[in-house]
Amino acid sequence: MSYDTLFSRLSVHGQEQLIKFWPDLSAKEQEQLAREISSLDFAEVNEVFRRAVDASKVIKEKLDHDLKPIPDSHYESVNNLSNEKYEEYESLGFKEIAEGRVGVLLLSGGQATRLGFGHPKGMYDVGLPSKKTLFQIQAERIVKIQQMAAEKYGKEGRITWYIMTSEHTMAPTADFFKTHSYFGLNEDDVVFFNQGTLPCFDFEGKVLLDEKHHIASAPDGNGGLYKALKTEGILEDIMKRGVKHLHAHSVDNILIKVADPVFIGYCTSKNADCAAKVVQKSCPSEAVGVVCRVNGHYKVVEYSELTDAAAERRNPDGRLTFSAGNICNHYFSAEFLSKICNFESKLKLHLAKKKIPFVDSDGIRQKPTEPNGIKIEKFIFDVFEFAENFICLEVSREAEFSPLKNSDAAKQDCPTTARLDLLKLHRTYIRQAGGNITDDVDVEISPLLSYAGENLEDLVKDEVFVISPFHLKSMSESETNGVNGNH
Ligand code: UD1
Repeated sequence: MSYDTLFSRLSVHGQEQLIKFWPDLSAKEQEQLAREISSLDFAEVNEVFRRAVDASKVIKEKLDHDLKPIPDSHYESVNNLSNEKYEEYESLGFKEIAEGRVGVLLLSGGQATRLGFGHPKGMYDVGLPSKKTLFQIQAERIVKIQQMAAEKYGKEGRITWYIMTSEHTMAPTADFFKTHSYFGLNEDDVVFFNQGTLPCFDFEGKVLLDEKHHIASAPDGNGGLYKALKTEGILEDIMKRGVKHLHAHSVDNILIKVADPVFIGYCTSKNADCAAKVVQKSCPSEAVGVVCRVNGHYKVVEYSELTDAAAERRNPDGRLTFSAGNICNHYFSAEFLSKICNFESKLKLHLAKKKIPFVDSDGIRQKPTEPNGIKIEKFIFDVFEFAENFICLEVSREAEFSPLKNSDAAKQDCPTTARLDLLKLHRTYIRQAGGNITDDVDVEISPLLSYAGENLEDLVKDEVFVISPFHLKSMSESETNGVNGNH
């Protein structure tokens, strides 16, 4: 494509800065830049910027006025469930798994900038005795829950694991799984797909160059899921396999109960099309979004959008009024996903001011130390408002939520807190099964041995744990690897 053609194409949309360095480029570089420019519809690109800027002008006080908590009829807490109800939900969930009707959507396309790890976050090892990565822990939970469902119902339903990556994380993620033989899962049941990207802008809406021949772009947010499900053929695969329930969650939560039968069963029993697991906010200022209703629509309002007054409001029983902390842990029926994917282009766009490397007007690549531009993202939860039957399940933070967001320097949501939270939960499991363990002893329980504390009595009852750190393994792991065998 010639300079003149590109210029006329870009200039009508005020984006001709993208070819400012055209004469400096080699033929190959010109070809790359022309290809990138041709792949974008600049009327749409400008419209995306305009919509994101408009959406960012939220008037907090106005929002406060329209906010309501989730009604009790759409909210249950695991801790308040009777044993019968818990078992009813769990059995229903296991049945759906055994019938092969459950899939998992893992959101793994983020760039993990806060953690400062040069690889996909799922490859992170937080320093557990086993040295297992987040991907391995999650894979083994899937292996185990499939086994448990098969034992209960005598039918081996397989869970399909859909892993969303982005252009940066696809190749290393796929290689990692291949190298580790899919951690015991069938290769056919692990499906990788890429989310899309959006260009990065300066504050005036001009698209930035990352290099003279390359447009700056970033993944389109975890809400890019819906577009990718459609364009990458995943929705079709879901239908073909007869998957009816999808558990979607972030990659970073070390305590994630992957394909949790209780959550699946709760949603099945309530005939929900969309749901969220939540934890009670630890304090008004905790930086998590809250699940609530705005003008009758279910939404997640990010902490930055809440006024202090709303964040601090309490019910007569002392509980925060807006306490349903979003943990990026969701349920979607397959039917709901196929409906949503048809109007995903109407999803809200969120704007974030970021430090984006760019080529300046002199052609020099700059790595800014202050935010210099805008990234635009879609959020996975922005479809809640389109649900016909949205419900929430409150779970305990100690048992289900410890995200890995930051490096240890931040001292919270970091490798150390993730490791300690998992080891603390495992001490609880050991005590519940009748074992003796003091707080200074670290015992990690393999997911292949126990998904959530079950199946431990024979091994730990009346045992005193003194060796620390220790990895309590399943029989199959002990056979294949002698180190740190069973207690
Ligand atoms: C997310 C939630 C927030 C919640 C918090 C709890 C969203 C939009 N926000 O915030 O409400 O309180 O978790 O921990 O869900 N990802 C992609 N592609 C992308 C961007 C992100 O797949 O383009 C994935 C990440 O890899 C991660 C998950 O989405 O697994 C969450 O993304 P992250 O950026 O960590 O979200 P938070 O800002 O922490």
